[in-house]
Amino acid sequence: MKVTIITIGGKFESDWNTALVIPSFEKDFPVQSELLSEELDMLIQSIVDREVFLGKEGEVFFIPIQDAKYAGVILLGLGSKEKLSEEKLRRAGGNIINCVHTNRISRIVFDWSKLCTSYISPIVEGLILSSFSYENFKTELDASKTNKVNIGTVVFLTHPDENIGRVIEETNDTVAICESVNMCRNLVCTPANDLTPGALAEFARTMCDKVEIKSRILTRAEMEEEGLNAIIAVGRGSSREPCMIIVEYKHPDYTGDLIALIGKGVTFDTGGICLKPRDNLHEMKYDMAGAGAVLGVLYALGKLKPKMSVIGVIPAVENAPGNNALLPGDIIRTYSGKTVEVLDTDAEGRLILADAISYAYKKYSPHTIIDVATLTGGCITALGHFCAGIMGNDEQLVRSLIRIGEKTGERLWELPLWDDYEKLIKSEVADIANLGPAREAQTIVGGIFLKNFIEGNTKWAHIDIAGTAWGVDHISYWSKKYPTGFGVRLLTNWLVSNC
Ligand code: BES
Ligand code: MN
Ligand code: ZN
Repeated sequence: MKVTIITIGGKFESDWNTALVIPSFEKDFPVQSELLSEELDMLIQSIVDREVFLGKEGEVFFIPIQDAKYAGVILLGLGSKEKLSEEKLRRAGGNIINCVHTNRISRIVFDWSKLCTSYISPIVEGLILSSFSYENFKTELDASKTNKVNIGTVVFLTHPDENIGRVIEETNDTVAICESVNMCRNLVCTPANDLTPGALAEFARTMCDKVEIKSRILTRAEMEEEGLNAIIAVGRGSSREPCMIIVEYKHPDYTGDLIALIGKGVTFDTGGICLKPRDNLHEMKYDMAGAGAVLGVLYALGKLKPKMSVIGVIPAVENAPGNNALLPGDIIRTYSGKTVEVLDTDAEGRLILADAISYAYKKYSPHTIIDVATLTGGCITALGHFCAGIMGNDEQLVRSLIRIGEKTGERLWELPLWDDYEKLIKSEVADIANLGPAREAQTIVGGIFLKNFIEGNTKWAHIDIAGTAWGVDHISYWSKKYPTGFGVRLLTNWLVSNC
């Protein structure tokens, strides 16, 4: 999708597949646009007078016209002018895509001359995110049934007083970030027979080459040598060998501290010997959504080139119940030296993250570690799909992430990590256990477990995306059918706003 921004009155291409979008507020009529003919003005006024279109939030009204330059006009309802927000524009972008799809529009022109240019980025986000589809495995693509939305060009016509240069730059960054989100979503959709840990590593390597950032893959043998025993242990039940992916972004002029992002990369979670029930088991291909998010962030950084230093560390494994699999009761000596009693092989995410966190700490001494993981089903029970759970050891870090979450629409809600919860993972035989009491604060217990692997005065936040990575309904720019790429916009914007 190509986004062009020009001052109203300037030249732009249009044809009979082009739609002209007129954003409208509730009770703010007549609709005004210098691009509308007198006839169209009257037609729209009659639609408004008959109260067919009210300008309410969520409304999208298409008026086909017979014109060589336009397929039609889209009236876009934005609700109350005073209550306009970035999130409303993001959702408006999503709503437009549905309309554009049914009417086979391939070019959209927005009359943005009555709106603030700072609202262009969020609506662009809505447009790009809701255009996502995954049809790699559809052999016969019937054009009328496809989910694919092909919008070639989007044009914004801005008020003559606006500084377009700055808006263009900002919009280009937004497009780059959204493309990284969609790259992540594509990865999360990929089935586990294609996306093995090795394939994920290969993907990461190719991605890094594209944006010229460094990548390094630790093979199973190298991990064994290094003592990354928790990752090895979880990977033992599968014939698809585990590996660790390390992606490094560093701006050449930056000499300051480094931030580490850790992403859970379980390419499929059967539960291992503690096998999961069969219902909806296929969904567990998305247990690498944390890894996808981390790769998405690094891809975006590679394109935006901000002044900072970030590493992504991804433990990639398949959790399977093969005959060499990890067993309940096994004790693992983790990379940190701490021993863990495995009471449940399905609580595998915290095991591999523990080693990845310790490895990042030991080799890179980051001042901040943020991990992203589809860690607990309990997070869906507690918070549903509209926000992710966040926990951490630094109030300022957690606050700043929550704030960016509200701005980007990738919302977070904090859960406590009080010391009392430590008691829930006491082990009789090892330093800690990987499981707490049944049905008790599962998400917090996951966070508490990870906290045990944070050393020194490293600031740390843990984001549980089990509910937000997939299955989000009722938000127009996401889709229940597809993963969301949750974390990419959140973390990229957080990083960029911090530097
Ligand atoms: N990958 C799952 C968590 C999950 C479940 C994500 C459902 C998305 C949807 C994780 O590895 C897991 O199995 N967690 C267990 C933890 C339990 C054994 C403490 C769970 O949620 O049941
Ligand atoms: Mn599991
Ligand atoms: Zn898992």
